[in-house]
Amino acid sequence: MKRFPEGFLWGVATSAFQIEGSLDADGRGESIWDRFDTESGDRGDVACDHYRRWPEDVELLCDLGVNAYRFSLAWPRLFPDGRRREQRGFDHYGRLIDALLERGIEPVVTLYHWDLPQALEEEGGWRNRDTAARFADFATQCYLAFGDRVRWWLTINEPWIVGLLGYLHGLHAPGYKGDVLGEVTVFHHLLLAHGLAVQAFRAGGTDGRIGLAPNPSPHYPASDDPADAEVARASDGYVNRWFLDAVFRGSYPDDMRVRYEEVVGPLDFIRDGDLEVISAPTDYLGVNYYAPRVMQAAPGDTPWPWRVIVPEGVRTTGGFTGGVASTEAGTPIVPAALTDVLVRLHEDYDGIPILITENGAVFADRVHDERRVAFIRDHLAALHDALEQGVNVLGYCHWSFLDNFEWALGYGQRFGLVHVDYETQERTIKDSGRYYAGIARRSAL
Ligand code: FCB
Repeated sequence: MKRFPEGFLWGVATSAFQIEGSLDADGRGESIWDRFDTESGDRGDVACDHYRRWPEDVELLCDLGVNAYRFSLAWPRLFPDGRRREQRGFDHYGRLIDALLERGIEPVVTLYHWDLPQALEEEGGWRNRDTAARFADFATQCYLAFGDRVRWWLTINEPWIVGLLGYLHGLHAPGYKGDVLGEVTVFHHLLLAHGLAVQAFRAGGTDGRIGLAPNPSPHYPASDDPADAEVARASDGYVNRWFLDAVFRGSYPDDMRVRYEEVVGPLDFIRDGDLEVISAPTDYLGVNYYAPRVMQAAPGDTPWPWRVIVPEGVRTTGGFTGGVASTEAGTPIVPAALTDVLVRLHEDYDGIPILITENGAVFADRVHDERRVAFIRDHLAALHDALEQGVNVLGYCHWSFLDNFEWALGYGQRFGLVHVDYETQERTIKDSGRYYAGIARRSAL
C-alpha cells in the first residue's frame, strides 16, 4: 500500500467556460470563447449546464470523496466589460465556495482559465500590456470577496498554451495564426499579469497560498542523434524554462531570448523592472501534466526546427518504457515522465511545493473506463515515486471532474470521472470515479 502525506489534497478540476453554460445569465459579459468558431463546430453555450446545476454537482463531488475542487472564476461574469463589477457573479461564486466548505472541500481557485472578456480583446487583449493591469484589478476584487474563505489560488492557467494555440496555431480563441511576435508578447504579458496579481495578493495581506499553473512538459530526444538532444533542450526552453526561469529566477533564459530575437526582432515589450514583478515570490507551483514531448530535429522547419513525435518507447530516468500506448486524443501515456518532471522541478527550482493541478486522459468509454482506471493508478504510483525522492507534492487534482467542452475539440473528447449525457444532462459516475473515490478516502494507493 502506498500512503500519501498527511493533509494531501485529493481533488478534481474544471474550468468555468468548459462546464458552466448560461452565457447570458446574471449579467455575464461576452468572452473571447463565446464567439470563437472551433474546428469541431461545438460551442460552450450549454456545456454541462453547471451554472444552474452546481448544487447537484457539489453533491457529486462528495460522492467522489475529494477534499479539494479546482475550478475557475469567469472574469466576464465578475467584470462583464473588463471594468464594471457585476455583483451577481460574485454572489454566484460565493454560494459555490460556501457549499464546498460546508462539505469539507477546499476550493482551489484559478483566476484565469482562458475566458478573457471580449471587451478587453477589443483593446488588444493579451497583446496589450494594460490587460495585465486589468487582470490585477480583477484578482484584487476576487481576494477581497473570497480571500476570507479560499486558501488556494492560481493566477494563470497554462500561459504557453494560450500563446501557442491562440496566436501560433489559431486553434484557440482569439484565433491568430503564425503570429510569433504576438505569441511571445502574450507570454510576457501573461507572466506580468501573474506577477502583478501575486503582488496584489501580498499587498492585501490575503491569508492563503498563490502560484502559477503552467503545463511543464518533460522533454526527451527521439534518438541518440545529438541534433535531437539539441532540439529537446531548445524546446524545453520554449515550453518550460521561459516561464519557470522568469517566475523562479527572475530572468528569461538566454538561449530563448536569442532564439526569439532571431525570429521576431528586439523584445522591446519587456520593460525594466518587469522581471522583478514576474518573480514576486509564490507559495507553490501548479503543474498540469499530460504527456512528455519526444523531440526530433527538423532543420529548416519554421519558426521552430523540430517535430514532436509519438514514440514507440521513451527512455526516462527510471529506464526504458517500451510499447507506449496513447489516449484517444493521440497523447502518449508515460507515467514515469511525471516522476521525471516533478524531480526536475524540485531540483531546478529550489524545492518549490507542487500541486498537480491537472492530469487526465481522453477515453470514450461511457461508464466502464478501465483504461482511465489504469491511467490514474499508474500516474499516482509515479507521483508517489517522486514523493519518495523528496519532492514536496501537496496534492493531485484529476482532469476532469465531468466530461466537458474540450475547447477546440468540443464535446467528442471525454476526460471526466463522471459521464455527462449532453442531451439530458444526466451525470453518471464512471468506474474511474469510484476507483478514485476509494483512493481519495484512504489517501493511499
Ligand atoms: C489543459 C487545459 C484544460 C483541459 C485539459 C485537457 O490544457 O488546461 O482546460 O482542456 O488540457
